[in-house]
Amino acid sequence: MRKRDRKKVILVGGARPNFMKIAPIYRRMKESPDFRPLIVHTGQHYDRNMSQFFFRDLGLPRPDVYLGVGSASQAAQTARIMVEFEKVCLKARPDLVLVVGDVNSTLACSIVASKLLIPVAHVEAGLRSRDRTMPEEINRIVTDSVSDYLFTTCRDADENLLKEGVPAARIFFVGNVMIDTLLGFREKAKRSKVLKRLNLKKGGYSVLTLHRPSNVDDSKTLRGIMKALKKISGKIPIVFPAHPRTEKMLRGYGIAGDALNYIKPLGYLDFLFLMMNSRFVLTDSGGIQEETTVLKIPCVTLRKNTERPITVTEGTNILAGVGERKIVAAVEKILSGDVKTPRRPKYWDGEASGRIVRCLAGI
Ligand code: UD1
Repeated sequence: MRKRDRKKVILVGGARPNFMKIAPIYRRMKESPDFRPLIVHTGQHYDRNMSQFFFRDLGLPRPDVYLGVGSASQAAQTARIMVEFEKVCLKARPDLVLVVGDVNSTLACSIVASKLLIPVAHVEAGLRSRDRTMPEEINRIVTDSVSDYLFTTCRDADENLLKEGVPAARIFFVGNVMIDTLLGFREKAKRSKVLKRLNLKKGGYSVLTLHRPSNVDDSKTLRGIMKALKKISGKIPIVFPAHPRTEKMLRGYGIAGDALNYIKPLGYLDFLFLMMNSRFVLTDSGGIQEETTVLKIPCVTLRKNTERPITVTEGTNILAGVGERKIVAAVEKILSGDVKTPRRPKYWDGEASGRIVRCLAGI
């Protein structure tokens, strides 16, 4: 196909968990004669260890456009992205805008494209926590409602969309692009020196990530979680690559983190290697629930609900909530050897991005 006949697709990345999702899709589109992919980075995440390190580790080129919106309140950040992204779309006139996940950049760019009558593809559509206090749940619902092509990671997401009235013809069960990246980079991650650097032994430590507003913005909840972590750290070291938001809150509330081995956020390969060799992971992230399922590493989720129930029914995930007693009990169970044997969910096989690109080539 002549270059100018190729479909021009804008892939939107804004925050850390977006980059590993756009990477395999970008690569497949680049290889295909049917597409001309462009990467637009909104700048929602901008610290080197929240953004550039991921582009480096994932072999992504520099973004074609960087919007540089930075941090702000929910509304201000979303609005700034919308204003800047509209200019990009008017200039580039893409044939399709592809958004991933559930962050503010996903929401903002899908609304802009749909109002400009540019078709929108949403990768990781249909996930629902049914907890509207989470900004991500609002982002998921709105993004899905304006998207033309909804690519899902599991059958329960298809069902959620059908129940909301999305026509079946728009829903494509393709699997999990985040797992494409995990499987593609697992070997490379083994070269990481992170264990040596942190003086850790394989299987001799646990990993913690914590950043949800509901967990870290409220001092009472955060103190409760920290109490549980202190108890756990008496049994096994906890390595904690702290999100900048969490670091700020802990400092602001004067909560001592002496139970934890604090480190700065890690790049993709180091973090993957850290997870692969841990005894278990404690997290409130969405993506990590999925990654631990595939890695067969026990995962204790510090939330009351999950938009990814398949990681509980088929994977290694345990929903422990945010109360001290339940978190400690979940960890004690794991340490006693009582762990779940996971089954890898259908289409979490490294081929999801190929299915998406083939589907979009046919439209
Ligand atoms: C965002 C996503 C969340 C995702 C998470 C992954 C939304 C609503 N939330 O949450 O779904 O799981 O990213 O990390 O889109 N900050 C920095 N440097 C950065 C980025 C952020 O210091 O590069 C600090 C700022 O103080 C900022 C705060 O972190 O105010 C929150 O950043 P923001 O992008 O609003 O949300 P996250 O908590 O990162």
